[in-house]
Amino acid sequence: MYAKIKDVLSGRFADGEEVEIGGWVVKNRSSGKIVFTLIRDATGEMQVTTRKGNVCDEALKVADALSMECSVIVKGKVRTDPRAPGGKELLATELKLIGTSKDYPIFGREEHNPEVLLDLRHLHVRSKELVAVMKVKDAVLSACREWFRANGFYEVTPPIIISSACEGGSTLFEVKYFEDKAYLSQSAQLYLESLIFGLEKVYSITPSFRAEKSRTTRHLAEYWHIEGEMAWMGLYEMIDMLESLVCFVCNKAAEERYGEIKLIGGDPEYFKALKPPFPRITYDDAIKALQADGFSIKWGEDFGTHEERQLSTHYDKPIFVTEYPAEVKAFYMKDAGNGKVLNVDMIAPKGFGEVIGASERETDLRIIEERLRRQGEDPSKYEWYLDLRRYGSVPHSGFGMGAERLVRWICGLEHIRDAIPFPRTISRSYP
Ligand code: 4AD
Ligand code: MG
Repeated sequence: MYAKIKDVLSGRFADGEEVEIGGWVVKNRSSGKIVFTLIRDATGEMQVTTRKGNVCDEALKVADALSMECSVIVKGKVRTDPRAPGGKELLATELKLIGTSKDYPIFGREEHNPEVLLDLRHLHVRSKELVAVMKVKDAVLSACREWFRANGFYEVTPPIIISSACEGGSTLFEVKYFEDKAYLSQSAQLYLESLIFGLEKVYSITPSFRAEKSRTTRHLAEYWHIEGEMAWMGLYEMIDMLESLVCFVCNKAAEERYGEIKLIGGDPEYFKALKPPFPRITYDDAIKALQADGFSIKWGEDFGTHEERQLSTHYDKPIFVTEYPAEVKAFYMKDAGNGKVLNVDMIAPKGFGEVIGASERETDLRIIEERLRRQGEDPSKYEWYLDLRRYGSVPHSGFGMGAERLVRWICGLEHIRDAIPFPRTISRSYP
């Protein structure tokens, strides 16, 4: 295996020690007799200096002709030099060109309009910025798994091809399923609910699909969904739990990926320091606060981007908004009386919007059937789900957190599409 640039920069190798590195060319500058090449691997960037006399003439010629994104294997001696990026450089003794790269279509990011870069996404995923975001996402997902394991959850694998909607028919993707039709899952929830009867606390991390017709900076047609379902848990106990999950994941990701978050323009200090409690307000109070701020929203209406942004301006932490009108929420949420349900949305600060949707689940079979009917669904399609209320039903709650919404917030990204390597939106499924 080749040595990693991060290990060289961190001083694992002494000056004069010889290492071999495989990487890609970021920049190349040559004066004929001496060539400075900035190379990168998955762990960082460093300067390679190729000098006439240190390498054979052939290698000097190769170094001289290197261009952006050529792949190379370089053998060389480590040398501390405060002028080199990262404080170390490699004095090449051997240099091999592995893959050529003529006219790499992406030069400075600024020079391209976003659509061109999206067409070139298969190459753009090598960029410093997207690589940094993917490292943050890796830290986020692994921190989630760590938290779930430490808190007694089992990871389960629900289906993606499904037969009945969880979040309403309007955003369902239909697929041909042999001679029949089926849909792509919008949420694992209904299946997670069935799995708590054996495992009590379960979670899954799966793709979810929404045929979102609107172009926004926070909707994807395919996103990664972190969902949990807990037996014997009510709404307010779940809110305490979510606070602890979100803080753990933010703290951990910010610690592990401090430099990457900074590089993308985010604020790692904020996420390192984030701790409970988060402010909690009811939907009723949220409506009053919005009206006091001059919004024309009326009780019974759902919040859009503008309302969520306005609500979040009053706080510097995420807020939990509870007990929305049943009319604007899904059929499975527990009736709280007064036309409201026992649900909660977690809204991130600074307009990043809803990151978590959660609720205690309705256990009364007749209420579920009636709400399904009212939402234009046929309860007979949900027979299997209704069985869960017939056989050993228990109070339970669950939540869904959009991985890209969370990563977008942590990284401070303008658009959610940069929180996923290959974004799928209404206008794009290529590359
Ligand atoms: O609020 P939602 O629709 O809730 C559910 O799907 C529940 N069944 C989850 C559950 O209780 N198990 O979606 C949950 C979260 C949202 O808060 C948001 O973070 C994310 O999923 N989300 C999206 N992310 C990106 N693009 C979209 N189109 C999204 N739709 C929802
Ligand atoms: Mg929601």
